[in-house]
Amino acid sequence: MDKIKIHGGIPLDGKVRISGAKNAALPLMAATLLTDETLTLKNLPSLADITTMTALLAQHGVKLTMTDEDGGALIFDSRHIFNLKAPYDIVRKMRASMLVLGPLVARYGKAKVSLPGGCAIGTRPVDMHLSALQKMGADIQIKEGYIIAYAPAGGRLRGADITFPKVTVGGTEDILMAATLADGQTILRNAACEPEVTDLVECLVKMGADISGIGSNTLVINGTERLHGAVHRVVADRIEAASYALAAAATRGRVEIVGASLNHLAAVARAMIDCGVSITETETGFIADARDAYLIGTDIMTEPYPGFPTDVQAQMTAFLATVGGASLVTESIFENRFMHVPELVRMGANITVHAPSSAIIRGVQKLSGAEVMATDLRASMGLVLAGLAAEGTTTVNRVYHLDRGYEHLEEKLTACGAQIERISEE
Ligand code: EPZ
Repeated sequence: MDKIKIHGGIPLDGKVRISGAKNAALPLMAATLLTDETLTLKNLPSLADITTMTALLAQHGVKLTMTDEDGGALIFDSRHIFNLKAPYDIVRKMRASMLVLGPLVARYGKAKVSLPGGCAIGTRPVDMHLSALQKMGADIQIKEGYIIAYAPAGGRLRGADITFPKVTVGGTEDILMAATLADGQTILRNAACEPEVTDLVECLVKMGADISGIGSNTLVINGTERLHGAVHRVVADRIEAASYALAAAATRGRVEIVGASLNHLAAVARAMIDCGVSITETETGFIADARDAYLIGTDIMTEPYPGFPTDVQAQMTAFLATVGGASLVTESIFENRFMHVPELVRMGANITVHAPSSAIIRGVQKLSGAEVMATDLRASMGLVLAGLAAEGTTTVNRVYHLDRGYEHLEEKLTACGAQIERISEE
């Protein structure tokens, strides 16, 4: 298994070009199942999760072609779908596989998708996806670990008025896609409005879907009998952008983020500015600068967009561990998302987790390098940030987590002066 070795304590200085967002790309790829024309996606990141989604779609019968056009794109062709089953072996690797459920039932009237099971950051049930589909007339059975869903007689889901009891990104995306081909109008209330959801809405509209309320918590979808093909560019990854901005801050350096929108990161920018980091918008992104800054802690709480993203909590926690004063971090989205804390403590951080949902951080003068491992993607990135800030050498194990969400991680950090290398082991 590969490891990442970091010689820390070097302030980052340079530019990072942000890749396409993994969490936008995955639902966009699932949307190909809604049409028998081709969907061309540009700016897809090269990541393990994208490979997993490609494998899932291919086993359903989607044909994929690469083109060099506009810096590279993938063309998805769902004309000949022959298999409506998403098998356990793929779904257990990546929960976003659930996103094929809505499109398959909507277009083919049937789907069999493995239940994803729990995950390192929480139990992560899928009940809201299922109850929304039931409201749209689907018959849903759970058998031998699989969700088996049938559209009502006639093979078409029916529009419905659905209020999600809790904001769910994947649930909103899944049901939004299903609703585009349903009979009649669907209203999704308390819908997620993350930029990745909006990117999906924009692509569906290009495919001929009738959706209003874009970017808000209420989406109104008038179902149509068929969608057509489209060409779409995946939105930039705001979580990747925030991660590099926080890496600049944690190392007391300066990084120019190119290609990401500061608008998508208002809550993160606000928290960093509160701590004393300078954030300046540029024509192509923004600059995070913490050189010679007097930094002090702040309190954050993770919330659905536009609140502070849970996917940046681990990286923010690692940064806060290095600044003066105390900070309170409250995680309100997932019940078990402090798995990075014990590892940060091994690096000299002073953090106490108050179960179930908060952590008190008292900044320390310096973290020290250590051998660490994390249980999920963002926790791993938190440890990379801590390693970049720490004195000495940090080895981050289980790099496969990072490979799920950070394209060209070592190259991007090396270009900013970091001493970081991947060590491949059998
Ligand atoms: C998406 O996961 C992201 N994944 C996650 O990013 C992100 O952390 C999360 O949204 C929250 O922003 C992708 O977009 C592929 P949810 P998702 O449904 O859709 C509960 C990363 O690191 N819930 O918004 O699975 C759930 O347990 C990943 O890139 C139910 O109770 O998250 C959680 O507590 C990790 N029932 C909350 O809602 C349901 O049916 C929000 O989950 C669905 C969700």
